[in-house]
Amino acid sequence: MPKKRILSGMRPTGKLHIGHYVGALENWIKLQNDYESFHLIADYHVLTTGLETEDIYQNSIDMVIDWLAAGLDPEKSPFFRQSQIKEHTELFLIFSMLITTARLERNPTLKEQVRDLNIENVIYGHLGYPVLQSADILLYKGDAVPVGEDQVPHVEITREIARRFNNQYGNVFPEPDALLTKFARLPGLDGDAKMSKSLGNTILLSDDAETVKQKLRKAVTDPQKVRRNDPGRPEVCLVFTYHKKFNSGEIPEIEANCKSGALGCVDCKLKCAAKMNEWLAPIIDKRKHYEANLSEVKQILSDGEAKGRKVAQATMNEVREKMKLG
Ligand code: TRP
Repeated sequence: MPKKRILSGMRPTGKLHIGHYVGALENWIKLQNDYESFHLIADYHVLTTGLETEDIYQNSIDMVIDWLAAGLDPEKSPFFRQSQIKEHTELFLIFSMLITTARLERNPTLKEQVRDLNIENVIYGHLGYPVLQSADILLYKGDAVPVGEDQVPHVEITREIARRFNNQYGNVFPEPDALLTKFARLPGLDGDAKMSKSLGNTILLSDDAETVKQKLRKAVTDPQKVRRNDPGRPEVCLVFTYHKKFNSGEIPEIEANCKSGALGCVDCKLKCAAKMNEWLAPIIDKRKHYEANLSEVKQILSDGEAKGRKVAQATMNEVREKMKLG
């Protein structure tokens, strides 16, 4: 049996944070052995929330370095930029005809972005964000899409578009499934439900040990635990969520001692920072290697783009054939 395919991607908005890792990247790394994987740098998608293009290339390189440092293997998983494979825009145009504006206006991820970024007037391309994403996924005939929770509505729209195309023109596309991780969403340092660059509440994969310690020191905890010995409520504390992910071995003890008041927030945060830093250390080491060998990174990207382009072109040929577009 041929391996099933994965297509996943991220917008290049700069260095990645641990929310990207636990929400998606960790899953990509695990799954690259069992699936044929393709990983997309969604540089056109960045334009949906800002027209500034100056940093997009550098941000893409930074993101690729994070992917490599975290353990994504370019031999198993080619990486490519959306803007370098023209078929993305071509399929996007065709898909735009297969979905209504009303359906896109109901997209909860769009609503969330509009709220978080205080957007007053939604641009046409932003409304069409999931349509471009559908083209990203279906060009590679992705069966599975490992993403964070916020992207599930986009995978649902992708399934609808695939179905609509197949019904109208003949069977070309699979209906992909979202693959979620247990920690599909990691809370931010300020207590927001989501870690995100635009909210300024992140810990980066490239943060050094001291930075992690300082950031955690300021993290919000249970507001009812005012003094060191006050009993706390781990279930409402984001630091406890971080412990669950990065320090799972000590969970029963931390939980009990927080609840009884034996463990104060300062010590609890120090423990958490130590564990996180232990985990981050090899990633930071690998990052240094790639930062010192940028030509290697660029080569990896252009090799990945050549591989991606081939698959994308083959799918577009099939699409044109089914649509009798010559
Ligand atoms: N919308 C995704 C995000 O912001 C990025 C993305 C673009 C993507 N195209 C994709 C994810 C295709 C999965 C599949 O995280």
